[in-house]
Amino acid sequence: MKFPLIFGSTTIALLLAFFASRSAAQKIVVKAPSPLTCGNPSDAVPLYWSTIPSVDVFYTTVISDITSVVRGDGYDFGGIACLVFTTQELSTVPLFHVYNGNLIDNFYTTSTTERDLALESGYTASPTAAYIYPSQICGSIPFYRIYSSIDTVHIYTINVTERDAILALGGWTDEGITGYVLDFHSTCA
Ligand SMILES: *[C@@H]1O[C@H](CO)[C@@H](O)[C@H](O)[C@H]1NC(C)=O
Repeated sequence: MKFPLIFGSTTIALLLAFFASRSAAQKIVVKAPSPLTCGNPSDAVPLYWSTIPSVDVFYTTVISDITSVVRGDGYDFGGIACLVFTTQELSTVPLFHVYNGNLIDNFYTTSTTERDLALESGYTASPTAAYIYPSQICGSIPFYRIYSSIDTVHIYTINVTERDAILALGGWTDEGITGYVLDFHSTCA
């Protein structure tokens, strides 16, 4: 042994215990939802849906906007679609909202490319609808999108059973996942 034996066995045991506790602490940090990378779930609010069946579905977090379409435009209030953020919290991206009054279609996307294509084809920009996660992080779940080109209706849902039931009716296209949102079933309890 070339190293001078400057540490007694008690010191070495203490050092080993220190590093063991450090790596244990690091494991806990990796497992827990990190406040450094996730939005605060308690800031999430309901994204409500209202609809004129076979014509349009309108999604908003703003109660006065629901009142406006229900009283003014003949929409029926549907309920809560999911939970979202109204400001850009950590790791979230804007859910853009555009509207086409000729088609009567409210369209929501996190993609600037899709938004810009819609704007070029006759949609007009509305204020950002919400902020959601671009990938499945922070306990989020997929927000699925389906589209009827016959009725020019976009439907968004977290419910796979509902999505598949509508797709099975025919005339609807699976447009994948718009982003990742929080489930209201557990969070609101
Ligand atoms: C999902 O949708 C199906 C079909 O519409 C419905 O029966 C079910 O209750 C929904 N599940 C939840 C958790 O809302």
